[in-house]
Amino acid sequence: MTNEWRGWRDATERALYGPDGFYSRAHGPGPAGHFRTSVHVSPLFAQAVAGLLRHVDAALGHPSELALVDVGAGRGELLAGVLAALPDDVTARLRPYAVERAPRPAGLDPRVTWLPELPAAASLTGLLFANEWLDNVPVDVVETDAAGVARRVLVGPDGTERLGDPVCGPDADWLARWWPLPTRDESKAPGGTEGREEGEAPRSPGEPDAAEPSEGHQLGAGAACPVPGLRAEIGRPRDAAWSRAVRVLRAGLAVTADYAHDRATRPPYGSLTGFREGREVRPIPDGTCDITAHVALDALIPRAPAGSPPARLLTQRDALRALGVDGRRPPLSLASSDPAGYVRALGAAGAAAELIDPAGLGGFRWLVQPVGGACAGVLGEG
Ligand SMILES: C[S@@+](CC[C@H](N)C(=O)[O-])C[C@H]1O[C@@H](n2cnc3c(N)ncnc32)[C@H](O)[C@@H]1O
Repeated sequence: MTNEWRGWRDATERALYGPDGFYSRAHGPGPAGHFRTSVHVSPLFAQAVAGLLRHVDAALGHPSELALVDVGAGRGELLAGVLAALPDDVTARLRPYAVERAPRPAGLDPRVTWLPELPAAASLTGLLFANEWLDNVPVDVVETDAAGVARRVLVGPDGTERLGDPVCGPDADWLARWWPLPTRDESKAPGGTEGREEGEAPRSPGEPDAAEPSEGHQLGAGAACPVPGLRAEIGRPRDAAWSRAVRVLRAGLAVTADYAHDRATRPPYGSLTGFREGREVRPIPDGTCDITAHVALDALIPRAPAGSPPARLLTQRDALRALGVDGRRPPLSLASSDPAGYVRALGAAGAAAELIDPAGLGGFRWLVQPVGGACAGVLGEG
């Protein structure tokens, strides 16, 4: 029985990507059958990515081979939409790649190269785009015990949890730098965590001290112990995955879009959750549901490749508006001059509004990483 208790990272890896895992199985509807990403909301999203690709293409001087790498490509819907939105003179030079752990779907455009892993480092020039990928890169979860010591959370096949060993080494260092758990004193500050009633909604912790971690740091071992019952998710596997993805580009732009938090807005009780058939469910690592956690995108900023400008974080709302997506309704005069066009434009305005809604998908974050200098000005100031 004991060997069935695993850390959440290991358990999620098996549940999502093991034999017949939630994502690795070929049959079934794929991600779109369980939740709606921006890609599924409207073709406007793929059209905006096509617009971004054209900016990248221009900044790179229209190379003879222009790569578009979709990491965590689902069923290839984004690539299909981008291909449909591009003019022939761009598609003639385009090399579209889907990097995806699920098998290639039947009927996908034959121009798309389907890869189970990232292409070789520094092999491509163009745009790498990853929509809702990193939230599905498995992470370990920690929880502070009654003494305030941060311990790895172990989970059984039915989702039952118990606490394991204290967190130490690089994982503890990552937490100390990126997700410091508030101590009793800090939690008394406005927005702190102490005194929470059972069932009360979690509140954001105050911005903790930015102390640099010490070598081999063990959380909760010092005098100021974190409050018991806090949770955090260790983002190191995502930082590493992102570094590998960015390194695929010789030159261009790498973008990852996801639901995210930063040091000022970490959820004090974590964000690990499950999704099944459109509904949020308790995460159970048995392959029947998605298991996802928000992404600490700010931890990726120091991962810029050598010689490249720093990455920038912006909201999806700002990114899409910069790419021409706006939720404004068409003028009423169109209803009389072109009723069918008016109805179409109204539908597009509704979809655009959903994509840029600050309380929904518009609140997602885009991390924009230029690789080399040419694309430094794309989606922002140069
Ligand atoms: C939430 S889905 C998003 C699908 C699509 N990008 C969209 O926005 O609709 C996440 C996808 O990432 C894929 N994925 C996760 N880790 C991966 C990895 N290391 N390499 C390739 N694909 C991965 C999963 O199989 C899954 O299809």
